[in-house]
Amino acid sequence: MASRVSESVFGSFSGSLADYQYAAASTDSELLNRPWTHHDPPGPAAFLGLLNRLGVPILGRSLNSSAVEDQFFVGAGASYDVTRALRSLGDQHQGNSEVEQTISKELQFKKFVTKRIKPLPPHVASDSVQLAAVTNEVRILAHETLKNVPQMVKLICVAWDEVPTMGRYWPRLLIEAADYGNLAEFIAAHEDARVWQVKLALLIDVAGGVAMLHQHHVAHCDLKLENVLVFPAEPNHAPGMQYQAKLCDFGFSVILSDYEPSSTFSAVLGTEPWNAPELTFAKPIKTEQLLAADAYSFALLLSRVMMHGGTPFEGLDQEDIRRLKQDAAMTEQVGASIFSRVEYSEPQKVLIRKILLGTLSLEPQHRFPVHLVKASLLLHSLAFRKQVTHPSALSCILETLLTPR
Ligand SMILES: Nc1ncnc2c1ncn2[C@@H]1O[C@H](COP(=O)(O)OP(=O)(O)OP(=O)(O)O)[C@@H](O)[C@H]1O
Ligand SMILES: [Mg+2]
Repeated sequence: MASRVSESVFGSFSGSLADYQYAAASTDSELLNRPWTHHDPPGPAAFLGLLNRLGVPILGRSLNSSAVEDQFFVGAGASYDVTRALRSLGDQHQGNSEVEQTISKELQFKKFVTKRIKPLPPHVASDSVQLAAVTNEVRILAHETLKNVPQMVKLICVAWDEVPTMGRYWPRLLIEAADYGNLAEFIAAHEDARVWQVKLALLIDVAGGVAMLHQHHVAHCDLKLENVLVFPAEPNHAPGMQYQAKLCDFGFSVILSDYEPSSTFSAVLGTEPWNAPELTFAKPIKTEQLLAADAYSFALLLSRVMMHGGTPFEGLDQEDIRRLKQDAAMTEQVGASIFSRVEYSEPQKVLIRKILLGTLSLEPQHRFPVHLVKASLLLHSLAFRKQVTHPSALSCILETLLTPR
């Protein structure tokens, strides 16, 4: 288990806001699988202090009640319900203060979802345990640089429950709404998701978002289609692209600077079967190697995009998949699943194989960094647009990028 150190850009705490341990809990709960040990847990007051330090707006009374009413369900994970407002906040700007007026204006034009903790009874999880995942989300989404990264979903503000659950008023995150839902839903509903350039562009967005997280020493740790959202592209996004993918769900993410640089990390994190083997089996790794776990999950996400939403593990049960992930045949098997499902040209196959080969290694230290994977996808996309489709030209580019030095 890694030891933790304090830091500032992600909001510092006395003690740590994510150090908890619990006994009885459902095994699929992200809140309850958090790996850290207990010391000095925070409660709602510390959470409010964090919002204040990171400059996250909190809705005042009148705006709060308008923002939390008339919601419909759009999704749920292990730890949250996600609902979307049926209507915008009305034509009139609400609130007294200047900040409230500004948020009111923003909420009016930006469709938003409300992400709300699924509260558990106090004997199952304390307030601090329940606030752990949402605290992680806020620290990352409100980070001074990451909050402006186009491939990350935007946190607009924090609201508060109007009625108590389990004797508590819980915070709600108001986040920009993805018109096309998550990436699994988008692929299922849109023929465009089968177009090579669209697949590449969405994967470039995802890899770009992950690379930015990594640049700021954050490992996402739960990359999967359901944790990527699809929006209509903003002007000046990728040329000719109608869609834009953004990362969401930072409940499992690890801020590396919370830990001593040389510390060892060992925990079950993420979602099976999409997590890296070291996170499935809680193998001890260096904390910084968590970035390589994202590279592995990215490769599996890529395989699902390339299979138009299918799974490379079709017909396998959990034990088979666990065995395969520790077997040298893993890369071959994932590639074979993709190519048996969807037809690709030779240069396209070369790209896919190269990425799988470079990212699905059992050992984290043998995987390519995600920014290199992004660069190779980008180059391939440019080459495709410029009609440089000769296999040897592309192989040459990929060879340069994806060859370990
Ligand atoms: N901003 C958004 N716009 C539209 N849909 C969203 C948005 N945020 C979340 N969702 C939907 O809600 C689902 C659950 O959200 P999220 O992944 O953030 O919660 P979670 O409880 O942490 O999930 P899990 O624990 O299963 O990974 C997403 O997969 C997506 O379908
Ligand atoms: Mg999720």
